[in-house]
Amino acid sequence: MVIGKPFLNVEQIQNRVKELAFNISADYQGKDILAVGILKGAFMFLPDLTRHIQVTMNIDFLIASSYVKTQTSGEVKIHADLREDVKGRHVLLVEDIVDTGLTLKYIRDMLLARNPASLKICAFLDKISRRKVDIKIDYAGFQIPDKYVVGYGLDYDNKFRNLPYISIFKEST
Ligand code: IMP
Ligand code: MG
Repeated sequence: MVIGKPFLNVEQIQNRVKELAFNISADYQGKDILAVGILKGAFMFLPDLTRHIQVTMNIDFLIASSYVKTQTSGEVKIHADLREDVKGRHVLLVEDIVDTGLTLKYIRDMLLARNPASLKICAFLDKISRRKVDIKIDYAGFQIPDKYVVGYGLDYDNKFRNLPYISIFKEST
């Protein structure tokens, strides 16, 4: 198993994350945000993003899983739910990557049923060609091709999340 050179390097990532935070700050002027990080994938993106958002916010986390190795199962398991009450809040869901969209659709629908004032989605990566369900990504960091990537929170078999950049995953033969 070999991890290649950066596909998105640290500087590209940090510049784009700042742009997303700037756009979010502009859109939420005068509103408080409830930022919901989806773990484990968002554990690196959410702190980088939120440190540049200049709007009052609460931060909470959901622990969910949907992926077994490199195959999406379509089933989402919630390991730990939010502690914050969603009703009447401006929820900003923060996710590492949208692939088929099944995970986010499940989580979005679960939170919409709790009657937030609004719900928007911010995803660091968007593999748009793989989409199986229609889901609007309000803030997307980068659109990427159909390749399995690791780093910056994204894993293969729960490894490589700690890489500070995004790399295309390669399995050795
Ligand atoms: P979806 O339900 O197919 O959209 O899959 C979303 C989840 O699958 C993400 O939250 C990731 O945890 C995982 N995932 C999808 N593509 C990749 C990838 O290229 N690398 C690592 N994880 C991925
Ligand atoms: Mg994830």
